[in-house]
Amino acid sequence: MVISLVGLPGGGKSTVGRQLAKRIGARFLDSDAVLEERIGMPIRSYFEQFGETSFRDLEQRVIDELTQYADGPLIMATGGGAVLRPVNREHLRDRTTVIYLRSSPDELFRRLRHDTQRPLLQVADPLAKLRELYDQRHPLYEEVAHYTVDTGRPTVATLVNMIIMQLEVEGKLPPSPMADRPASA
Ligand code: S3P
Repeated sequence: MVISLVGLPGGGKSTVGRQLAKRIGARFLDSDAVLEERIGMPIRSYFEQFGETSFRDLEQRVIDELTQYADGPLIMATGGGAVLRPVNREHLRDRTTVIYLRSSPDELFRRLRHDTQRPLLQVADPLAKLRELYDQRHPLYEEVAHYTVDTGRPTVATLVNMIIMQLEVEGKLPPSPMADRPASA
């Protein structure tokens, strides 16, 4: 079983993914971290040296591999642009349970104002860039997602609880034992 997290950069895919994995006893992998390990350099440097298309080719390969992970339950955080290629969307949607962590551009801007690592945001007006990315990608995240969770107000722990409840309702996870459940229920 693979559960994938998609959404714009800074929306908490890795943070939420790591906590979710801990809670349900799954392995956690970040597709960007797997990729960085393979190329032996930060994504930002790779972008600068080889360009975005080359990066997307490698990303496609990693998504193809990780969506077929069969070595126990896996929570996979994806890079924000993983949904851009139709083949990735197909692999994510058909092979995994996809959760879209939806955040507004303003919220992301507050979190990413000082970021220096994300190549797409190293521009004069990062808020305008985030708005553009949202307009372009929100429909793609919605298309690929089995569930959408708004990251606006809740804490990470609450988001994780919301995701776990949703997965339980859909029968993707066995119901967690509830000590306070009435005996007659
Ligand atoms: C990208 C997002 C990054 C990383 C790369 C490209 C994007 O991942 O894959 O810099 O196109 O939005 P995060 O979403 O983890 O920042």
